[in-house]
Amino acid sequence: MNILIIGSGGREHAFAWKLVQSPRLSKLFIAPGNAGTASCGTNVNLSVTDFKGIGEFVLKNDIRMVVVGPEDPLVKGIHDYFLADAKLKDVPVIGPQKEGAQLEGSKDFSKRFMLRHHIPTAAYETFSRETLDKGLDFLGTLKPPYVLKADGLAAGKGVVIPHTLEEAKTELRAMLSDAKFGDASSKVVIEEFLHGIELSVFVLTDGISYKLLPSAKDYKRIGNGDTGPNTGGMGAVSPVSFADAAFLKKVEDRIVKPTVEGLKKDKINYKGFIFIGLMNCAGEPFVIEYNCRMGDPETEAVLPRIESDLLDLFEGVATETLASRSYKTDPRTATAIMLVAGGYPGTYENGKSIEGLENLKGSLIFHAGTESKNGKVLSKGGRVIAVTSLAQTMRASLDLSYENAEKIKYEGKYFRTDIGKDLEAN
Ligand code: AMP
Ligand code: GLY
Repeated sequence: MNILIIGSGGREHAFAWKLVQSPRLSKLFIAPGNAGTASCGTNVNLSVTDFKGIGEFVLKNDIRMVVVGPEDPLVKGIHDYFLADAKLKDVPVIGPQKEGAQLEGSKDFSKRFMLRHHIPTAAYETFSRETLDKGLDFLGTLKPPYVLKADGLAAGKGVVIPHTLEEAKTELRAMLSDAKFGDASSKVVIEEFLHGIELSVFVLTDGISYKLLPSAKDYKRIGNGDTGPNTGGMGAVSPVSFADAAFLKKVEDRIVKPTVEGLKKDKINYKGFIFIGLMNCAGEPFVIEYNCRMGDPETEAVLPRIESDLLDLFEGVATETLASRSYKTDPRTATAIMLVAGGYPGTYENGKSIEGLENLKGSLIFHAGTESKNGKVLSKGGRVIAVTSLAQTMRASLDLSYENAEKIKYEGKYFRTDIGKDLEAN
């Protein structure tokens, strides 16, 4: 079977690495891909939202499955585009249609979904420009810190957590009246602040049954000790030590099952990944957010722990036979360390020559932002390379990942040196 992966990050390299291990794969294509995915298949120079170009490529190359990595094409309706075309409608797309993708594309939609299906989440209210005054009054009834979320996609920047009422009011005005995040903040969700430790669980569903994938913890801030600005993610650990069997049972019973059932009840035909961001509040799980895709860098730690054939699972999703597919995980711990460009998440330069990739032993290397040019691997993006290792203990896994992270050289290289430290202390 020929498969096309949509995307160009570490997540898509991890998908490519996993899918080429399947005996059922014939040819693999990645659009647009990076220097790493080029070692697993053929990169195709198409933008992730060029649905027409993607559709034509699929027909010309006898592609029998499309796996969508990032949220943007899903929220914009790539799956719907395929279903609406007589020639493309039978090509399975792994990733929800536009309506299901609203779980990530609209915070207001996802909060209403959780409320309707009794899924534990922070109390909230939604405001628009017309109800700005009510929003300002509502802030006055809450205790700090305040959580303000732009309703739509805002490149991961749409959540603001001010610590004083004054700042919260200024922020709400900026989002609603001054369109701080453009259309994305034409509605704003204000919610209760949840105290606890964050982690994520991942679900693969065919709309009928589901597989609960390994849990992971992401490290979002640029600096050690969770300091400095937010990034796309600086590292990931899977499994998460504090997410024991009892906690995960609560997650499955109170959150995962009602989510999959809720989609069914709402007649939303969902085929793909659900990424559930959780807060563990003194042992009780609450949903912070849904994403309609896998996480990055979480995928780089989660996929290496899945022993089953991912293509077989995807076929189960496509044909609604996921329940009968075998699913096995590796009990070892995976840690992924993200190497980023100097200056990231602020301004940074591309085109730095990356050396030392050939001398690495014992880790998996997932390219996040790279390209090949004249036989060299150059950086092309803020997040450049993820180094993942699997070992019996988290400490051994981290030692290996950090040893190899040191060996990779490029001008301005930076990475956090405290991934997993908080979990060791627990
Ligand atoms: P989101 O995009 O909804 O995941 O929010 C981004 C980050 O803001 C989360 O990863 C949390 O660290 C934080 N956050 C979001 N909602 C809450 C909440 N209700 N209470 C505490 N922190 C939150
Ligand atoms: N690492 C967080 C995300 O993929 O949204």
